[in-house]
Amino acid sequence: MSKYIVEDARKVTTRRVIEMKRKGEKIAMLTAYDYTMASIIDASGIDIILVGDSASNVMAGNVTTLPITLDQMIYHAKSVVRGVKRALVVADMPFGTYQVNADEAVKNAIRIMKETHADALKLEGGEEILPSIRKILDAGIPIMGHLGLTPQSINKFGTYGVRAKDEAEAAKLCHDARLLQEAGCFALVLEKIPAHLGTKVAESLEIPVIGIGAGGGVDGQVLVCTDMLGMTADFTPRFLRRYADLNSIIGDAVGNYISDVKAKDFPNESEQY
Ligand code: KIV
Repeated sequence: MSKYIVEDARKVTTRRVIEMKRKGEKIAMLTAYDYTMASIIDASGIDIILVGDSASNVMAGNVTTLPITLDQMIYHAKSVVRGVKRALVVADMPFGTYQVNADEAVKNAIRIMKETHADALKLEGGEEILPSIRKILDAGIPIMGHLGLTPQSINKFGTYGVRAKDEAEAAKLCHDARLLQEAGCFALVLEKIPAHLGTKVAESLEIPVIGIGAGGGVDGQVLVCTDMLGMTADFTPRFLRRYADLNSIIGDAVGNYISDVKAKDFPNESEQY
């Protein structure tokens, strides 16, 4: 286990993340989409791993998160769960699987939980999807909400710019956040909103608020793993801090391998049978 694990090597639960907020301990969350990355991130001591529908962008190369299917999300979530011992694993419900009606939503939610063994689900939206949220929670499935920039609605927004800058949208976001807490969500992601609004929502709720581009006043942070590891070189939003330059590291390693093969240097005597 990693030196970064603060004291407690037990499996992280939804209860524990609520407790972390109560104690003022910040929550660290990252995305993962496959077994190998999930194993590394989990062993490093992350609190929550999100199997984000950002897999649509960073794994499949789509422009938006909309095309990823339920079967594809289940494949990613199953792979991640196999690599995780400690972190809480949250899986995104993909676009179209919970917006039609509450019955369909709970059917799809149960399918994800049964087939992947994830610990919880994340859904984008507030009041509009409350019937689906209630029904899924009634089935005993924990939900993390997601407000602010909700990428599944990109065609409605028309831009990936900062959300809730005006008073009306900020008021709706605060209203939705409260509704999600009252319905029983165990946590909330706030994406790309003004920092003062992130702080205000986090201070007004008992459940943890995890931000991505929502400032430092929230209860935890989430980043897309390929972004924070510097694999996606041309994605440079202001909120992103890069902790490695894997794009160059991988590029250099591959370049060296190609040179060695071409120069007949690989494999050498000790690398063959
Ligand atoms: O899909 C995703 O990666 C997300 C995070 C950006 C929160 O929803």
